[in-house]
Amino acid sequence: MTNEQTNPGKDAASVVVAATQLRKHYQTGAETVEALRGVDFRAERGDFVVIHGPSGSGKTTFLNMLGCIDYPTSGAVEIYGQDVATLSDGKLAELRRDKIGLVFQTFNLMPVLSTYENIEYPLLLQNVPRPQRRERVQKLIDAVGLTNEAGRRPNKLSGGQRQRVALARALITETHFVLADEPTGNLDTETSKRIMGIMKSLNENRDVAFVVVTHDPMVGEFARRTVEIRDGLLSTVTQGG
Ligand SMILES: Nc1ncnc2c1ncn2[C@@H]1O[C@H](COP(=O)(O)OP(=O)(O)O)[C@@H](O)[C@H]1O
Ligand SMILES: [Mg+2]
Repeated sequence: MTNEQTNPGKDAASVVVAATQLRKHYQTGAETVEALRGVDFRAERGDFVVIHGPSGSGKTTFLNMLGCIDYPTSGAVEIYGQDVATLSDGKLAELRRDKIGLVFQTFNLMPVLSTYENIEYPLLLQNVPRPQRRERVQKLIDAVGLTNEAGRRPNKLSGGQRQRVALARALITETHFVLADEPTGNLDTETSKRIMGIMKSLNENRDVAFVVVTHDPMVGEFARRTVEIRDGLLSTVTQGG
């Protein structure tokens, strides 16, 4: 038997996300904005893709499609080979909860929860029992260097610390797929490099695929490959280290 026959699922399973001819139009009154104009994209297990583009080029729109938090006007998104358009609302919510980690420019932490509780939250949604929750949260808090901040609420943390909480929260479900929208947008250069360095080590050591959209050129230094987005179209793919 050929390799494909003995191992039919392997290649498909290594594709974390695939987008085919993705289009997104926004209707505002009489005007239609074509935010995405036919985008093909795929990312595999262990990938680290940085998508660069200026403000208004369609980065957030694109990430919202990949993260299944908005619907495309046309085209398809597959997560681990599953066409998300075929899923019920309930199954789609499960997919988002279990398979996709999201990181935003503004961190989006819950102000009333501590570092520990913010990171733990996705596990409560998954009904993970308390002893496992504790073990997993503790490990990840240590991994992102927030051991001493476990009991603090977001307003007692620096921007870089908040983004590390957000990163840990994105990863606590043991997903291998994280989407980040301008993750360094509110951080100074040194802090930005630290955050990107943590992402890079998570990518290398835990095989987490990252898709990061940004207008910050520095972020590209951490990519395995970079892609440009201009006026709703992807171009110039470069292979990095
Ligand atoms: N909800 C929306 N309604 C109408 N137009 C939108 C909406 N979201 C984004 N757009 C438009 O789509 C284009 C791409 O926006 P966006 O994806 O936010 O770009 P970026 O994240 O690269 O700044 C812009 O022209 C923007 O004004
Ligand atoms: Mg944006």
